[in-house]
Amino acid sequence: MRSGRHSDSVRVRTEPGSALGRFALGLQTLRQQAGNPSYETLSYETSRLGHSYSDTSLRNAAAGKQLPTWEVTEMFVRACVSYAHTNPERVSDAARSWTAKELAAQWAQRWRLLRHPPETTEAAAEPVTAANGLPAELTTFFGRERELAEAQRLLARARLVTLVGIGGIGKTRLSLRIAARAARHGARMVELADVDQSGMPIGAVASALGAEGSDLPAVLDFLAGEQLVLVLDNCEHVLDGCAALTRVLLEAAPQLRIVATSRQPLGVTGEHTLPVGPLPVDSGEPARCDAVRLFADRAAAVAPGFALTAGNREIIAQVCRRLDGIPLAIELAARWMRVLSAEDLLERLGEEFRLLRDGDRSASGRHRTLRALFDWSWDLCSAAEQAMWSRLSAAEGDGPLELAADGLGGAEAFDAVVGLVDKSILTKAGNQYSMPGTLRRYGRQRLAEARPARGPGGQPAGKIQCSADALVAHTNPPALATGSAVRFSPSGRRSEVDTAIGSSSSISP
Ligand SMILES: Nc1ncnc2c1ncn2[C@@H]1O[C@H](COP(=O)(O)OP(=O)(O)O)[C@@H](O)[C@H]1O
Ligand SMILES: [Mg+2]
Repeated sequence: MRSGRHSDSVRVRTEPGSALGRFALGLQTLRQQAGNPSYETLSYETSRLGHSYSDTSLRNAAAGKQLPTWEVTEMFVRACVSYAHTNPERVSDAARSWTAKELAAQWAQRWRLLRHPPETTEAAAEPVTAANGLPAELTTFFGRERELAEAQRLLARARLVTLVGIGGIGKTRLSLRIAARAARHGARMVELADVDQSGMPIGAVASALGAEGSDLPAVLDFLAGEQLVLVLDNCEHVLDGCAALTRVLLEAAPQLRIVATSRQPLGVTGEHTLPVGPLPVDSGEPARCDAVRLFADRAAAVAPGFALTAGNREIIAQVCRRLDGIPLAIELAARWMRVLSAEDLLERLGEEFRLLRDGDRSASGRHRTLRALFDWSWDLCSAAEQAMWSRLSAAEGDGPLELAADGLGGAEAFDAVVGLVDKSILTKAGNQYSMPGTLRRYGRQRLAEARPARGPGGQPAGKIQCSADALVAHTNPPALATGSAVRFSPSGRRSEVDTAIGSSSSISP
């Protein structure tokens, strides 16, 4: 079977940010995730399924010039699933768990919405980054207008902009917003947190692009003539490799622009850096302050009825100040509003944080603020939660949760996962769990510290069998259709299927 792709890349013939453009890009992403079958191959798949659609019809559907008929759309989706199932070695992890029925139902809903749009469309309510091939946002985004404007200005004349800042400060979130705004012809996100190698991380880029091979020529072939915005997230892990890679890509693909995130600049000629600092914490009226708004939003998610009031506003502002306006720290602390009052929270953040932070508002001071917050979260975890946290931190690659949790008893593991979700250590979207990079590194540190005490060969034995369905039902009762495996994505990536179908309604505000 042929599976040429570069020749097959289809340009979206409509405004990419429009509903039709997103629909078309969604179909293109689906094809990529299925392992990039050519349109001829997809056409062949449709005939195997008993409905022959030509490669031209399928190609037109993905070009978005006009809304394809439902019959064509359905066969496009089913052909992708069928190809993915018969070629499992080529497909993305997300595609392995596809079922034709579920995916077709999701696309039917999407198609109907386009065909019969509701009378009052609420375009503004759509998550900004769901378009253009970027992962959709899971939570509300606050502030950063100045950084967004600055990035836009820089990208107008520079082709490499690096967002620099400490872990947890908001680089990844900001990079996605920047890319979504800059991408007129699509964007892709390359997650480098898990890349563990020297040299250029070409493989990661190739798989994010869905290029035909995993080497440099395949990537360059894919990029030729494309006006993509590429997000390279977490470059600090492979700084030299990223520097070399960006140099090569920018030289070979004159239309390409790169937004990188890193703890330190890449040091490439032509690079423009954009420092990412804390969310503002003292901009007058607390209710208008982004850090306070972030806190209130995340608190309301766990404590129904929570709202900023004249009575708690000032205290929350103090909490945010004490946390140095670090978004990740604010999110973790907000989780405690479920069991603590604002006053109690402020008090608990009191002594140790004051000791740590007094007179030190530098980046290293913020590092210590986060570390102290993590210590605090850690101490409040049960032994099983701590074990689960460090085990998941050490997990490599996407995988079913059961594997990563090897070693804990069934019921214990179940409670531990629920506990970690409650404490914001694990984030849950659909049946996909992920852990922010900074929390993961912390968990690994803890694991390393604990290992010597356990002695050689002291790995706990036995594999847990915690029921995926029960877990999903327990941690998110109303929102989810269960039945598929629960997966853990250590690097914080979302299920690519979710991204492709833009199914953000239950998670995005
Ligand atoms: N502007 C923002 N609005 C809302 N949430 C944010 C914002 N910036 C960061 N966050 C949240 O804070 C956490 C850390 O942000 P992230 O972008 O992952 O940081 P970094 O990439 O610098 O480590 C994430 O859960 C993210 O969703
Ligand atoms: Mg990040």
